[in-house]
Amino acid sequence: MADAQTATQAPTITRREDYREPDWRVPEIALDFDLDPAATRVRATLQVERNGVHDRPLVLDGDALVPVSVLVDGVEATGWSMDGPNLVIPLTGSAHRIDTEVVIAPERNTQLQGLYASQGMLCTQCEAEGFRRITFFPDRPDVLSRYKVRMTADKARFPVLLANGDPIAQGEGADGRHWAEWHDPFPKPSYLFALVAGDLVANRGSFTTLSGRTVELGIWVRSPDLAKTDHALHALKLSMAWDEQVYGREYDLDVFNIVAVDDFNFGAMENKGLNVFNSRYILADPDTATDYDYDAIAAVVAHEYFHNWSGNRVTCRDWFQLSLKEGFTVFRDQSFSADQGSAAVKRIEDVRGLRASQFPEDSGPLAHPVRPDEYIEISNFYTATIYNKGAEVIRMIHTILGPDKFRAGTDLYFQRFDGTAATCEDFVASMEEASGADLSQFRRWYTQAGTPRVSATLTQEGGRARLSLRQSVPPTPGQPVKEPMVLPLKIKLFGSFTGRAMCDEQLMLFKDDAAEMVFENLSETPVLSINRGFSAPIIVETNRTAADLAFLSAHDDDPFARYEAMQQLMLDTLVASVASGSADHQPVIDAVRNTLTDGALDPAFIAEAVLLPSDSFIGDQMAVVDPEAIFRARESLRRDLGMALNAEWRAAYDAVRANRFEYSPTGKGARRIKTVALGYIAASGAADAAALAYAQFEGADNMTDRQGALTTLASGTSPLREQAIEAFYQRYAGNGLVLDKWFQTQALSSRDDTAQRVEALAQHRDFTLANPNRARALIGAFAVNQRAFHDISGRGYRFVADQLIALDRLNPQTAAKLIPPLGRWKRFDAARAARMRAELERIVATPGLSKDMFEQATKSLD
Ligand code: PHE
Ligand code: ZN
Repeated sequence: MADAQTATQAPTITRREDYREPDWRVPEIALDFDLDPAATRVRATLQVERNGVHDRPLVLDGDALVPVSVLVDGVEATGWSMDGPNLVIPLTGSAHRIDTEVVIAPERNTQLQGLYASQGMLCTQCEAEGFRRITFFPDRPDVLSRYKVRMTADKARFPVLLANGDPIAQGEGADGRHWAEWHDPFPKPSYLFALVAGDLVANRGSFTTLSGRTVELGIWVRSPDLAKTDHALHALKLSMAWDEQVYGREYDLDVFNIVAVDDFNFGAMENKGLNVFNSRYILADPDTATDYDYDAIAAVVAHEYFHNWSGNRVTCRDWFQLSLKEGFTVFRDQSFSADQGSAAVKRIEDVRGLRASQFPEDSGPLAHPVRPDEYIEISNFYTATIYNKGAEVIRMIHTILGPDKFRAGTDLYFQRFDGTAATCEDFVASMEEASGADLSQFRRWYTQAGTPRVSATLTQEGGRARLSLRQSVPPTPGQPVKEPMVLPLKIKLFGSFTGRAMCDEQLMLFKDDAAEMVFENLSETPVLSINRGFSAPIIVETNRTAADLAFLSAHDDDPFARYEAMQQLMLDTLVASVASGSADHQPVIDAVRNTLTDGALDPAFIAEAVLLPSDSFIGDQMAVVDPEAIFRARESLRRDLGMALNAEWRAAYDAVRANRFEYSPTGKGARRIKTVALGYIAASGAADAAALAYAQFEGADNMTDRQGALTTLASGTSPLREQAIEAFYQRYAGNGLVLDKWFQTQALSSRDDTAQRVEALAQHRDFTLANPNRARALIGAFAVNQRAFHDISGRGYRFVADQLIALDRLNPQTAAKLIPPLGRWKRFDAARAARMRAELERIVATPGLSKDMFEQATKSLD
């Protein structure tokens, strides 16, 4: 591999404190592509300007590029040299024109960074450092240029030619070729460059902005997929209107295009005016996409659209500032989704995601601050910390300032930094200036890694209650000692007798190691509701009893807090059961019955609230994770819930059983409760459970019901299991996105033989490591199946390591993303830890390992 490096080579570490302005600016660039999958000729013309007074040469980043020619001011240059992959050109004046030419081979680009081929089309992915695989350029986000792009290609194979900005001209060439020119009037960093060439069709729409600009919208796909693009187009229009209403942000070009691509390393990419999407976040119809997929499509369409302001108009000075665009944009897309449906359910889902991915990251070997201090490979920093904890940080600012001052802050930020490359500090300073708030201590959220822990103890003496708080931030790699954080805690007390609120919700800014809050004149025993709405992304330990938690799960007036109380009750029960081999299940059963039969509640909320915490979240509560004991404790509670509430589950199921598909909040809620109820009926061991699941599987008029039933069957032992797996495969053969579900559902099965089956699936003719979605569906899903992956034999570890070593040769970025499960060895017993370490060591010792994998695997060994 061109960019492979052996583990023995010292990796280069990039440090935030070393930031220096670019030596040369590039106000204009013209690119001319002669597109061909085997050999694409790229001619680049750069207008370069010396930045400040210095005599340093022009250094253009390259990655596996060989210059065919280099011209300075139109004359063949001789003085240039290569410094490793980069092109160095000594220049004498303050401004020059540089012409370079290279030839690249998109069809051999398996990394999917730069220009690559996917299912007959050609497309680009440049963030973070892929542009240097296309042409020589100062590939850093603080070099902003105006782009003119000309593409020439075979007209029959590539009838559609798209790039950033507006289409300017097109025409016919010789030998069946044609060409198109696009200009983007907005200066942008190279990571936002994109082009697409292919045989595509568009679902077209238009949107009129607040100020009356008509924008032509297009969702581009291969023609068989056209019917699956309405949902994405609709979501795009909603997003455009929402950003005007909520942030006052209008779109700024005459066209906005989205292209769906099957082979893609991430979810989607916000290239200016030409978003490129993983097709799983565009294509949907009821037969092939679940409700979860529909929601994710709307969220990702919104996310990428919102980047037009938070990321593109104001971009990042350097990659250490990545959360400036990502944390803020995730907060924006979360708020958008909350406004489209149930805000409470959305918050529950987001917190569940944070706990499943960010909390483990923050407590493991790859923990890093929201604004990191150093990296080896920036691709490894597109993490849950940057994205999701980053969003929580913005949310806390929103909570502290209130919506109006927050909006004044974003207005100031956008106005002041429009057209520039900014920093996280610029954002926080804008918030301070517009609101008058002092966020100096709050800035620790950007510098300190680790999830803060708060212990909250409520004690009562007569009519007075005292809330005592203590906080601590655990040590993380490179940060042994931490300072206290600013924690916005929403707090309320409820009377345990009447169930009534005993005060208004308080917002406490908890900033010191310890604090106290006193409540006077209480007429009954109070129960504490704290961190309501998950107002701070922390772990809270309280002295609340099972009775208190059950009470809150029924009486709290914040739906998130109700959910949280139920989860805590379940967790306490499960942790006790793992520790002692058994626990009293009755409080959980009673609380679940209460919620399940509460007619005033939204079914979508009920479905979330009655779900048990995952195996891995239970493990996160324990000093040493015992996967088998956790699995047994959870299964036993599931069985008891299933049996004790058999009538209630069946009633809930029957109430929605005959519903026809409708994509609406009510429809979604009904489907959610339906499959959750089915799961509990199966857990009870009921004799008819498999038949019920199979009937749901066969009779489904939508993928949510069908996959829900398949999931239930896949973890069971009924012969209907094999029948359903086979029927699903036959029905969807040829549909890649649905086959991903087929692989994933089997990889997540809780059966004893999952490891063997996953090994066999890796040999299936439809399995390939070349497609990132497929690799993640099998390998990624299996590695988070706690019980199967951590099988004491170590076969799960060996299998994943083998796959990642193979994947690294094709696609280092995608391989490195799958390392974290192996890096959690410190949390397991000595035998498992030794086996996990051995696999990490084997990975590190692999000749030709990428620097992506090298960084993740070596850090994971520490
Ligand atoms: N910037 C993209 C997003 O979050 C993510 C991405 C990163 C896509 C790197 C591709 C490569 O919207
Ligand atoms: Zn993003």
